This record gives sequence, C-alpha cells and structure tokens, in this order.
Amino acid sequence: CIAHRYTFTVREVPYTKLCSTKTILTVNSQFPGPVIKVHKGDTIYVNVRNRASENITMHWHGVEQPRNPWSDGPEYITQCPIRPGSDFMYKVIFSIEDTTVWWHAHSSWTRATVHGLIFVYPRPPESLPFPKADHEVPLVLGEWWKRDVREVVEEFIRTGGAPNVSDALTINGHPGFLYPCSKSDTFHLKVEKGKTYRIRMVNAAMNLILFFAIANHSLTVVAADGHYIKPLKATYITISPGETLDMLLQADQNPKRIYYMAARAYQTGNIAFDNSTTIGILSYFSSHKAKTPSFSGYYPTLPFYNDTSAAFGFFTKIKSLYSGQVPVQISRRIITTISINLRMCPQNSCEGPNGSRLAASMNNISFVTPSHMDILKAYYYHIKGVYGTRFPEFPPLFFNFTAENQPLFLETPRLATEVKVIEFGQVVELVIQGTSLVNALDHPMHLHGFSFFVVGVGFGNFNISEGEPSSLYNLVDPPYKNTMTVPINGWIAIRFQANNPGVWFMHCHLDRHQTWGMNVVFIVKNGREPNQQILPPPDDLPPCYE
Ligand code: C2O
Ligand code: CU
Repeated sequence: CIAHRYTFTVREVPYTKLCSTKTILTVNSQFPGPVIKVHKGDTIYVNVRNRASENITMHWHGVEQPRNPWSDGPEYITQCPIRPGSDFMYKVIFSIEDTTVWWHAHSSWTRATVHGLIFVYPRPPESLPFPKADHEVPLVLGEWWKRDVREVVEEFIRTGGAPNVSDALTINGHPGFLYPCSKSDTFHLKVEKGKTYRIRMVNAAMNLILFFAIANHSLTVVAADGHYIKPLKATYITISPGETLDMLLQADQNPKRIYYMAARAYQTGNIAFDNSTTIGILSYFSSHKAKTPSFSGYYPTLPFYNDTSAAFGFFTKIKSLYSGQVPVQISRRIITTISINLRMCPQNSCEGPNGSRLAASMNNISFVTPSHMDILKAYYYHIKGVYGTRFPEFPPLFFNFTAENQPLFLETPRLATEVKVIEFGQVVELVIQGTSLVNALDHPMHLHGFSFFVVGVGFGNFNISEGEPSSLYNLVDPPYKNTMTVPINGWIAIRFQANNPGVWFMHCHLDRHQTWGMNVVFIVKNGREPNQQILPPPDDLPPCYE
C-alpha cells in the first residue's frame, strides 16, 4: 500500500550486535529504516522530526527533485541542519525514477544507521519491462562499528585517517554467523520453489565497495540506480556505496539444501579496511529442517578482494534498456581530477608524512563545507562570502595522472569552497580522472539532482588530444546512473543536460573521502521560462545560526 505522507522520527535507540550494546541513530526506531513506496511521478511529504541529540538532514538519493533543491538534504549545501527538537517537512518529487532508490541522512557520518530503501512502482498503464516477481525482498548492505559512529569520525578527523575500520558488514542490519555472537543475528530469506523474487538492493556501507553473491543461484540484474537496464545474468555483483540494483532471483534449486549469500569488500590501494564477510541464509520453505544458523550449506564464490577486473567486469556490463537517449552534442567538457592528498597541520602535529594528514580534492581544491550558512540559501538570497565560483574547468596541469611520481606541489591542494556554475540547458560532459597521488584508489562518484549517462570508462589517462575517444565511448546504450565508480588509476566520462535548476552536490560516496573534501557543487542557473526556475523555498526551512 502506498502513502504520500510519512513521519520520520529520528531518535537514539540501543542496539546489541557483536556482543556489545550501543545507542544508534534510527528513524522510527528501525535499523535499517522504513521502506518508502511510491508510484513513478508521485510527490510525497516526509516530516522529519529530530528527537535525537545531534543535528540531522535527510537526502533522497537518486531522486532528481526537479526544481526543488530545498528538499535535497546535504548539510550546509542545500540546507542548515535540523537541530535537536526541531522538524522539517521534506517535499520529495519523483519524476523520472523507475525502480529502486534510497534515502539517507546527509550530515557528518549519520547515514551509517539512518538509511532505507525507496521502492518505485510503474504508474499504470505503464508496466514493468520484465516479468513481475512473486515477492519483493529489500536488501540493505551496511557497515557496523562497535563504537559510537561519532567517536569514529572524530578520531578519523583528528588523526587524519587511519582507525576507521568497521567491525562488521551487515545484510539488513545482521552481521551473520561468521562474526562473534551473531549466530541468531543472521539474515534469513525463505523462498518457495518455483517462485521469483525481486531483490531491491542498496549498498549503504560508509566506505566499502562490495562484492555479493548467492550460492548456486544466479541473479538477473534488471535495474541500476533507479533505471531499467538490459537484463544481465550474474553469478556475483559489485556494488558501490550509493548504488542500488534490482535483481531477479529464481528459486529453482534443490529445496532440501541451504544456500548462503555473502558480501565482502572490493578494495585496492594501500589502506586498512574491514576484510570480513557477512553471510545470510537462503532456504526453501519445504525444507522444514532448515533452522537458523546451520553450518552445512553451500557457500558462494566471491572474487578476490582486490580483483579490479572482476569489479569493473560487472560495472561495465551494465547497459541501459533503451538506446538513443544520450545527448550526442555537448555544450562543454569539464575535466576534473580526483585525488588523495596531504594537508599540513599546525606545527606539523599530525601523524602523516612530515606531520601532515590525509585530505582529498577535485582539480586540486579540497572542498571546504560551509559551517554557518548553506550554499543554496547564499545563492538564492545573494548572500556574499559563503562560496566562490572559481572551480576550474580543467586540472591545474595536464600531466601523467597515473604515473608513479607526481609533481610534488599537487600533493597539497588549496582548501576552498568553489562551485561550478552551469547555464540552464547546457549539455555537460564531465570527465573524472583518478590520479596516483598519495594513494590510488577507486572512487564511487555521486551527483545529486541528475541521472547521468556513463558514456566512457577507462584505465590510465583520459586521452584529451583525441576530441572524442570514440573507441572507449558508448553513445548508444550507456547506463543512466547517479553514482559511478572511477576505476583505480582510470577515468569515467559522464553526460547530463543541466535542465534542473538548483544547487547540486557531487562527491565521492566513500564518506572518508567526502569528509576529506573530494566534493564539488554545481549551481545550475534558472532558465527563462517560469517552469525552468527553482521553486520558492518552503517556510519551515531550518534556520541557520551564526
Ligand atoms: Cu547518497 Cu550526497 O549522497
Ligand atoms: Cu573516494
């Protein structure tokens, strides 16, 4: 059943996992949070009531929110936070989204436990382009710390990086029986032989790209990031933080056996990470002996943890269901590097090289989030001093981005709040180039306010001299997404038409890198027509304080 009004009460609730109890932020005391169900094109109202002791904002990830950046959510980008004891009514406008998207908090690392799925259904007479499943299965992959997440972030910021490794991965909040004290804290999916299940999955982990598979059952992926794709049969999938996938599962195996599903990290580069595995159980109803944790069952095979060709083998097989939707002419090409950097500390007091700490940047600017007033309000009301408009169109210099030795001055970027202004209606091609500065890694880049076509993905350096690196481009049926992972020492090219006026955040969806400044903001100007302009602000916008 479908409601158009929701109340999300954010409060702290004790949860016990891995033999220890802590208080976590939840929506309506649920973890993962409640599922929102809408039809394509609906507008819903979500009253977010902050009854916790820290600030919160809410973001509707993958929802374009046409002309309505006021309800987009990123803290100090489109709004000031909802303070403890206050409320804000989000107006969430669905337009082009077809399948599964999600919502999550967008203030500091609060999204670690404040997140949930959004199921989008076709609006009749439209129907699904694939056979309707018998059942729907929400499947939220997550990451769990035994410590309070606030402490984890504080320490992460203070030390400049290292100790942020989570204690467990989770499936629908359950670590699974491979972890201590988790025998009965294991996700269990019971299926009926002969039926089809539609898994609606999100990777809600904070910092990990994941591999996932189910033993003896292949998955037919039918949608990615809220849009239909050509059905893709897979024995494992790769999913980055921020991404959603819809997959069909046929219950067609021997019903007397038990099958495990598993997720664990895909991780390259030189960093400490949570390399543990979360397990869930799949059993058939007829197999009445299939009691919770049994240790005799089939395990799936997952790719090796740093297998980049396995990770991108999956990503690059995703193609839009539709052809001929990509804008072929572009108005401008913006090229930006994304890098891990160093940042000097007072008296060289930090724990990194020469007393520095780690940072991150785009085009050599480490994004500084404003701390008193959001960029949207500053833009709308012409308030000066909150941001600059000088985000560079190109990297400060064209070098061998992925070479072993890099020009040293690039290691320490400028700290600034620079946005990129785009004229209404421009077709933008954005090339995002990974670099080997400090630590080459994969980065799942997410854009608010738009879906974009992933027209190119490549390893090494983007070739600027050839106008159109056509052999690596797909202008026929590229996937239409809101998050795309830039391969380690590689690049992606994405295209979108700037037909959504507003202030839109773009950032790495690994929260470590977002915290370090791998972010930019696009301001898309109003068009001429009244229906090409930002909607007026709601009157209950959370106030900003000095
Ligand atoms: Cu999923 Cu800026 O967010
Ligand atoms: Cu990143």
